[in-house]
Amino acid sequence: MPELEWNRVRWNDEHPWPESGDEWSAGWGGPRAQWYGAIFPRIARWLPARRVLEIAPGMGRWTQFLLRQSEELYGVDLNPKCIQRCVQRFSAYDHAHFIQNDGLSLAMIADDTIDFVFSFDSLVHAEMDVMTAYCEQLVRKLSAGGVAFLHHSNAANGVDAENPNAEGRAHSVSSQAVHAVIEKAGGRVLVQEEVNWGSTARTDCLTTFVRGQAYPHIGHTRIENNHFMLEMQIIKAYQSPYY
Ligand SMILES: C[S@@+](CC[C@H](N)C(=O)[O-])C[C@H]1O[C@@H](n2cnc3c(N)ncnc32)[C@H](O)[C@@H]1O
Repeated sequence: MPELEWNRVRWNDEHPWPESGDEWSAGWGGPRAQWYGAIFPRIARWLPARRVLEIAPGMGRWTQFLLRQSEELYGVDLNPKCIQRCVQRFSAYDHAHFIQNDGLSLAMIADDTIDFVFSFDSLVHAEMDVMTAYCEQLVRKLSAGGVAFLHHSNAANGVDAENPNAEGRAHSVSSQAVHAVIEKAGGRVLVQEEVNWGSTARTDCLTTFVRGQAYPHIGHTRIENNHFMLEMQIIKAYQSPYY
């Protein structure tokens, strides 16, 4: 199971980061195609946002796009190598701030200040202890109209013996468990989209949530998407040539 120590060793010491994370976008035809084809449509409603918090930016694969959509951006990552690379890569942006944390704490971020929280392709490796710590804090960090979008594991639902892609996914995490933690902390889930990743099993989940009182006119939507990999293929074939 990917504990914090696994995440430290894997991303700081073992992974060679040959293309600063862009290597993981090959299936979509590159990071731009993945951002504009797969990620941005799911968060466009909430951007641009004044203050953005990115959890686990790695070497900035999504940060480069979020920076253009924010007045202030905070990137918080467990690993010093990632923080150093982001500081160097985005040194021209005065509104970008990168902070190393212990993998659990968001104490460096003031309460009631964040208009958009984003994490993609990182928290799938975070077990329920980390998800609980982050979700509880995020409900407090969000501004009154703030929104959080987290990509996390659903392996507690989506794994089976024949799904080799379950490797690296946090097995203690399910869409329902994350939903329960958010609501217990005083938040409200607007959308949960379970998606398949690398196989047919829905090992992953995209959760959009707000503070309990925000957006009362928006109900809860649950999506069981078994075609995320098909969407990826379509983006690569028909959108990525434009980039
Ligand atoms: C697979 S990389 C993805 C990075 C980036 N999101 C991307 O898609 O290119 C995972 C990142 O998550 C970070 N990470 C893992 N667990 C974390 C935690 N509990 N808190 C903060 N960062 C974490 C790692 O240091 C690494 O930078």
